Amino acid sequence: MNHQPLLARRAAKEVPALFRAGAASPRGVIPLTYGFPDPGSFPIESLVEATARVLRDEGHEALQYGPIAGPRPLLALLVAKLAAEGLAVSEDNLLVTAGGSQGIDLITHLLVDPGDPVIVEAPTFIGALQTFRNAEADLYEVTLDGDGLQPPRLEDVLRDLQAAGKRAKLIYTIPTFQNPAGVTLAGERRRALVALARRYGTMLVEDDAYSELRYDGAPLPFLYSLDPEGAVFQVRTFSKILAAGLRLGYVVAPRALLPRLLQLKVDVGTSPFAGHLAAAFAGDGPGALDRLTAHIAELKEVYRARRDAMLGALAEYAPPDVSWTVPQGGFFTWLTLPEGLDAGALLPEAEAAGVTYIPGASYFARGDGRRNLRLAFSFLPADELVEGVRRLCRVVGEAAAR
Ligand SMILES: Cc1ncc(COP(=O)(O)O)c(C=O)c1O
Repeated sequence: MNHQPLLARRAAKEVPALFRAGAASPRGVIPLTYGFPDPGSFPIESLVEATARVLRDEGHEALQYGPIAGPRPLLALLVAKLAAEGLAVSEDNLLVTAGGSQGIDLITHLLVDPGDPVIVEAPTFIGALQTFRNAEADLYEVTLDGDGLQPPRLEDVLRDLQAAGKRAKLIYTIPTFQNPAGVTLAGERRRALVALARRYGTMLVEDDAYSELRYDGAPLPFLYSLDPEGAVFQVRTFSKILAAGLRLGYVVAPRALLPRLLQLKVDVGTSPFAGHLAAAFAGDGPGALDRLTAHIAELKEVYRARRDAMLGALAEYAPPDVSWTVPQGGFFTWLTLPEGLDAGALLPEAEAAGVTYIPGASYFARGDGRRNLRLAFSFLPADELVEGVRRLCRVVGEAAAR
């Protein structure tokens, strides 16, 4: 049967190569591609113990359908966790989702009709780009510099849209330890960004997948906390701080909009079992956090060392005219190759030399990114990161010399 005529417009498009790619990389090739958490850091023994506890003490609830907003023990944990991070919210602001990805998807469904303007950072997270494309959004880009999104560039886009009689439905931003660029939005820009969203009547989607994993410097205010109950949705996840396989995330939303999101989330609740498990792992008793906090502290040590190994190897091996960002947290650094080089064209050569990365062009809605590439330091041990960077730098050096 030819299914093609049956497909909705958004499903009929070609599937991007990245979504077909599996996780395996050829033997001997060092993948600096994966922004996956370190599998050795999964707290497996503690999760085995917490699983037994959940099944024994809360089994009848954890194995039943649950409230769409999320299981009660997890919501209590989230209120306490966010309060500890300086974000005062109640359960009426929270919706548990299947990862941050579902949060982005739901917010997009809530706000975006086909053809609606959506503003993204350039570069930005591939999963969000795909979500906005699925919704047939009209994408506009704002370039990043070393301090994140540039408010004057954003205002140019907002003003042009306004002049054309249009309004951006949302501005999607990853202010802290950006994926893929590794940069962080400076404090004063956070205030400017929120002010612009309010002035031009658009919502901000603050994708905060990494802020718990800060290796240097002091925390900056969340966009949500700069305008509570106002122009900001915050999207969060347990993928980087506990286990990506739990598929557990949450949205912090203005109270007035939460019922609208609940209405769109037709899944009878994100896995109540995973939610109960995360709460049981986090600590003993409602809202207890101590075990999760200790686990995050251990993760920071692991990832800080990996970041330092990768940045150290870049400093040692990078040929002239290669630059990279210095992330204060998160999983990624972003390289800019010398003038005239193309990271996509160079990939086969890098693979042959035993290293892979993701070329920058994948992270742009419209722009180019040809001279850029993303390196992840989260997934591999330090010695492999160093060897991968050494191989990559040799390939880049040889190409630059041609
Ligand atoms: C910026 C950003 N947002 C959201 C996600 C989604 O992660 P998950 O759906 O596992 O929570 C990721 C994962 O890589 C990410 O980097």
